[in-house]
Amino acid sequence: PHLDSIINIYDFEKLASKILSNQAWAYYSSGADDEISYRDNHSAYRRIFFKPRILRDVSSVDVKTTMLGSKVDVPFYVSATALCKLGNPKEGEKDIARGCGQGDTKVPQMISTLASCSVDEIVDAAPSKDQIAWYQVYVNSDRNITRDMIKHVEKLGIKALFITVDAPSLGRREKDMKIKFSGSDQGAKVMKEPLKKVEKKDDGEMSKGASTTLSKFIDPSLTWDDVVKMRKWTKLPIVIKGVQSVEDVVKAAELGVDGVVLSNHGGRQLDYSRPPIEVLAETVPVLKEKHLDGKLELFVDGGVRRGTDVIKALCLGAKGVGLGRPFLYSNSCYGKDGVEKTIELLKTEIEMSMRLLGVTSIDQLTPELLDTTNLKSRTVNVS
Ligand code: FNR
Repeated sequence: PHLDSIINIYDFEKLASKILSNQAWAYYSSGADDEISYRDNHSAYRRIFFKPRILRDVSSVDVKTTMLGSKVDVPFYVSATALCKLGNPKEGEKDIARGCGQGDTKVPQMISTLASCSVDEIVDAAPSKDQIAWYQVYVNSDRNITRDMIKHVEKLGIKALFITVDAPSLGRREKDMKIKFSGSDQGAKVMKEPLKKVEKKDDGEMSKGASTTLSKFIDPSLTWDDVVKMRKWTKLPIVIKGVQSVEDVVKAAELGVDGVVLSNHGGRQLDYSRPPIEVLAETVPVLKEKHLDGKLELFVDGGVRRGTDVIKALCLGAKGVGLGRPFLYSNSCYGKDGVEKTIELLKTEIEMSMRLLGVTSIDQLTPELLDTTNLKSRTVNVS
């Protein structure tokens, strides 16, 4: 179908489910175990309602903000996802870089350690000098590999590091586990790219899905001490991605990192981990009480599919909101133009909903605009 027929983010997902290879669909769409967290990540947003204000001049709405010291056009970013070439075999992550920079609205792109293109290729593909790229770090058991990589991406102009901590090993994603990658098939070829970075060879075990194969990248012995050490390796802002409790946000703030992403990895790691938006709602009051507010920036991802979802997260104190699968799907279906369209759709929804909410700038988004009474009334719906 023509790109014009896509009117919201769900349309890309529906299309992707029909046209992607089994390997790509299983790897992209799966969550861990019974996929309870995967589903509730989005459902949680549906338990928050608005308390709009009226009769304010909303003729012009400005959605610009800042993240980690950089000016950004919109309050959302592309979160890191591995293996973009499974869905867009020729261009992979390069088309995400193009889509993030070719239109009027530039969006930060977080590049995965397990990307199927090299960071150099992705940064080279970016069409605009004003574009922001971040690097997501899976810490390797050989710390020299990680340290060299950080030195390398610093030179490429990367603006921040996101250290992923919710994946000491990759979760059981059963749809994906049933998929085999073998020999010279397209999927196996794609997976060999990241494997080469750590193995110096490219013939890892691939018969139990992508996640099982990729698990060997990640050191399960990682601790807070490593974060302290990594702080000394670089001057770039450091953000911890995959924080799931207020206690750990407090710890991160006390340690002096620049930010945290409240995230359960899109429901792909511990099933029954809480939806990140719920953790965010608890976080800001605690940081205030401990006089730690403003010490670090809060980011959130998981299940964000509408402009209203982004607004709700900002009202609860997020500085930026990440999306994973929506960009994988739009990139797989339409390449860079799909990515750009996703950005436009979200931006338009955000502007429209802010106007209807009675606010004209991001700093006016506060918890008073939300009714979160039912946020914790989870109903588990196993379908
Ligand atoms: C991810 N995510 C992820 N996170 C990360 O830190 N490094 C990675 O390599 C990946 N890879 C990855 C692959 C796929 C297929 C998915 C769906 C997700 C997690 C990602 O950054 C983000 O946290 C979630 O995708 C957010 O949830 P939504 O937007 O997909 O619901």
